[in-house]
Amino acid sequence: MSSPNLLYDAIAIDGPAASGKSTVARLLAERLNLIMVNSGEMYRAVTLAVMQHGVNPCDPITVADLVKTINLCCIVENGGSQILLDGEYPGSALRSDNVNAAVSAVAAVPEVRHLLVALQRGLLQHGDLVMEGRDIGSIVFPNTPYKIYIEASEEIRRQRRAAEGQTDSVGERDRQDSARKTSPLVVPDGAEVIDSSQMGIEEVVKTALGVLETRGWFDRESERNLV
Ligand code: CDP
Repeated sequence: MSSPNLLYDAIAIDGPAASGKSTVARLLAERLNLIMVNSGEMYRAVTLAVMQHGVNPCDPITVADLVKTINLCCIVENGGSQILLDGEYPGSALRSDNVNAAVSAVAAVPEVRHLLVALQRGLLQHGDLVMEGRDIGSIVFPNTPYKIYIEASEEIRRQRRAAEGQTDSVGERDRQDSARKTSPLVVPDGAEVIDSSQMGIEEVVKTALGVLETRGWFDRESERNLV
């Protein structure tokens, strides 16, 4: 169990930018009937607020002050979490070039992480979930046995992002995410690593399902049904 106090379990999917973790998490959520949580959207939403308020994303003190005042909430609807900024869906603004360039600096601010980790843990009250990000298996749900780390070579990831039509220096973001002091991108203790460089998405999903089976996800389901 992810936590002795909660009925529900979390599958943690971590990895660098454009490794395919969002797609894998979405497909796992569909097939296993889980709530899908993209934690990166939360960091992107805070970054958008930082930019809307004209705050320098590289000024951690002012970012930390701002984060105390922003109106951010997370709801669960249609099988997934949705982030609301000032009561509205931020939509495609979350993936603008400006947000891509600033998000790693904002995500390195401890006060930002503190706020968002609390929001992320709170989502477990809604049901079993799959959450993808950078620190899900290491910090958000360190006790879950269901941890997967998806990686791929930097060149392949850069090509994948370019094929989505985005200017996003994934290598630079990874370096910042791995070097930060608070909750850096790491392979979490006990995570199964899947290198997706030479795999199609179906193969990655199949491998992930195999990991979950080995770790008892499906036994857990049948035990629960017997209660
Ligand atoms: O989809 P992609 O892999 O490009 O990135 P994302 O998941 O949307 O995350 C955007 C940024 O948010 C990352 O580069 C990290 O700086 C930050 N992030 C984080 O620090 N911790 C998480 N759990 C998720 C994202």
